[in-house]
Amino acid sequence: AIGPITSLDIVNVDINPDGFTRQAVLADGVFPGPIISGNKGDNFQIDVIDNLYNHTMNKTTSIHWHGIFQHRTNWADGPAFVTQCPIAPGDSFLYDFTVPDQAGTFWYHSHEGLQYCDGLRGPFIVYDPNDPHADLYDVDDDSTVITLADWYHLPAVEIQVPSSPDSVLINGLGRQAGDNTSALPVITVEQGKRYRMRLISISCDPYFNFTIDGHNMTIIEADGENTEALPGIDQIQIFAAQRYSFVLDASQPVGNYWIRAVPEFTGNATAGQVPPPTGLAILRYVGAPAEDPDTTSTPSANPLLEQNLHALESPAAPGLPFPGGADVNLLLNFTFDAPLFYVNGYTFIPPTVPVLLQILHGTYTAQELMPKGSVYSLPPNKTVEISMPGGVLGIPHPLHLHGHSFSVVRSAGESGYNYVNPVRRDTVSIGSTQSDNVTIRFDTNNPGPWFLHCHIDFHLAAGFAVVMAEDTYDTPTVDAPPISWDSLCPIYDALPEQD
Ligand code: C2O
Repeated sequence: AIGPITSLDIVNVDINPDGFTRQAVLADGVFPGPIISGNKGDNFQIDVIDNLYNHTMNKTTSIHWHGIFQHRTNWADGPAFVTQCPIAPGDSFLYDFTVPDQAGTFWYHSHEGLQYCDGLRGPFIVYDPNDPHADLYDVDDDSTVITLADWYHLPAVEIQVPSSPDSVLINGLGRQAGDNTSALPVITVEQGKRYRMRLISISCDPYFNFTIDGHNMTIIEADGENTEALPGIDQIQIFAAQRYSFVLDASQPVGNYWIRAVPEFTGNATAGQVPPPTGLAILRYVGAPAEDPDTTSTPSANPLLEQNLHALESPAAPGLPFPGGADVNLLLNFTFDAPLFYVNGYTFIPPTVPVLLQILHGTYTAQELMPKGSVYSLPPNKTVEISMPGGVLGIPHPLHLHGHSFSVVRSAGESGYNYVNPVRRDTVSIGSTQSDNVTIRFDTNNPGPWFLHCHIDFHLAAGFAVVMAEDTYDTPTVDAPPISWDSLCPIYDALPEQD
């Protein structure tokens, strides 16, 4: 792991994580990128240096710190053309932000085009040295991070969507179909100990059904928000960009056990494609031989259901306890008209001038902000409700809001609402059927233009996004970046003209 004051060298390097060599876009030349970690309260200063030369995978870049609120530092949020211009090759950009009131499991990824699918994705962990719940978890070890990734042998721009990933990588290793020998990650545990494990989906597309043969898990965190401990879970369905912490009791006989991540991707549903091989890793007890497990998976008896998760601290959702009971109530209708997605009739086309820069230059209203139709204004200090009917393409879509976590007052698959103790998180599946109406609530306490988008990266690139322009009138006075407009957009002159 690398600490809060660091740099990331973004490079094109050949890697072979699954028996096939391809060039990738990588932070410090590794996949996944190095774990960046720090403590609650830390100031992170991460200098991102663009040394890319492969045009097919974008020579420019930009990094988002997924789940970090960026309170008063919205300029450091990272999405290209929302809060900044991309970083040009040969240039660097210093992301400088403090994490005063968050601890948990996050990640970082390129937020330009489809670039993170080509490799630029890694874990970001914020520890709380004074964790008030440490006794509750009672773990002996909190160092295990498990990333789940879909991996493709072609550059993302050349993939015909939907397309099956060629492999699933756990902690950067996997086996393509037919490969039974490539190295797999080993997670070592000692019998009798309790482990906090942090599971991160750094997926571009599929969700995963995650299991550990012979072991149950106790869920304690979702997307950087503590949950009431939920024990006895034998399968975690985790969507692109979601995270969970669970406690694992190493209470089974000394041996080797398969850790499995079974991918479900859009092509399974829409194109009848063959799914990629299951992602595999090995849970190895100290004392067990260094060999592959021979354990078998059993059908799940107690899968994780989102509605059974409850926020641990101040769990009540903001606003009044009925649908439409917020100060601002928005309905987002998602549609698909090949090859583009539409939100309330508008497909998201990245503006030439990043939304934040438009705001800093004095454009404050959704009517005037580009891209027109894709920007919503949110007033300060209000409760917002967003309801999002499901069913587009008949598959679940993980919707992520920047700048906030939100209470999920209605989860996919549910018809009822929970205002009393819903889970809080930053990425939620909106479900796959038209009867789904996933509904979220949050308070506007964080000025900035916050992206809200499907985290299936191919869908984001096809316009499945809007910007929530929160408290635009205060943004220029309190959120101006500590650098000049021009240096924020070093390649501004090189960008195509906008009408
Ligand atoms: Cu992870 Cu926009 O994101």
